[in-house]
Amino acid sequence: MSRIAYVNGRYLPRRDATVHIEDRGYQFADGVYEVCEVRAGALIDERLHMARLQRSLHELRIAPPMPPAALATVLRETIRRNRVSNGIVYLQITRGVARRDFAFPDPPVRPTLVVTARALDFAKNERTAADGIVVITVPDKRWPRVDIKSVSLLPNVLAKQAARDQGAREAWLVDGNGFVTEGASSNAWIITEDDRVVTRPADAGILRGVTRTVLLEVIATHGLTLEERPFTVAEALAAKEAFVTSASQIVMPVVRIDGHAIGSGKPGPLALALRRDFHRHAEIGPKER
Ligand code: PDD
Repeated sequence: MSRIAYVNGRYLPRRDATVHIEDRGYQFADGVYEVCEVRAGALIDERLHMARLQRSLHELRIAPPMPPAALATVLRETIRRNRVSNGIVYLQITRGVARRDFAFPDPPVRPTLVVTARALDFAKNERTAADGIVVITVPDKRWPRVDIKSVSLLPNVLAKQAARDQGAREAWLVDGNGFVTEGASSNAWIITEDDRVVTRPADAGILRGVTRTVLLEVIATHGLTLEERPFTVAEALAAKEAFVTSASQIVMPVVRIDGHAIGSGKPGPLALALRRDFHRHAEIGPKER
């Protein structure tokens, strides 16, 4: 099946889907993005993703390329044309194409909008969750505005590669005070010996994950105690369970951090229960096909 991408008003075969060499996304990483889960052909938590997108655009003073309803149509159409049942849709908006100059183009140019969709191997993800993933820790070298979902991801790229080089799946980023901020592409969580679920507050130092937001509700319905506070690497190593959250992994148990087994060294029962229940609390859109 040929894959289709949306680029600035057109649905194109992927090989023909291109942007200009002077796109500011390419030259300055001057843009934002979102990744939404698609499950059984339906968009998951679209409203929260779109709200975060609008916020990211606003913070960077990038004009929305189209009204939210039109954008929603593009997302759906891209999913439909690619026949994605389980997978992700990726959306990227940059400040647009202009002669290279650090300051914003004046007058402003049309922002560039790209949307792609692809299937993920559902069974493989489930197997990964059953095994759990390995994590390393690295210093968090990002800029302070990580609350914006910007495509400027070089520190995240380097952290993820360091993880890959050490046979790990994710890197947890550690701030100057020894506290874990989040994963290179996920939010970080631990569960203490007395079953308190701990994750860093989303007001500074992390991206407010949509999966994180929804999981707070799941945690409450499970009657678990939540502590939104920073935690150290030492606390994580001593935790009973650990896991990460993101749109593409939902709740993914962590079984080793920096070579130390977490808890029993197997995915924790609470993390797995939260994973199982997640979609009962997520907002599930209409099916696309
Ligand atoms: N990453 N923190 C960072 C740094 C992230 O890149 C992500 C998501 C998250 C989790 O956010 P959410 O639950 O809304 O997916 C937290 C996406 C999936 C990515 O870049 O591919």
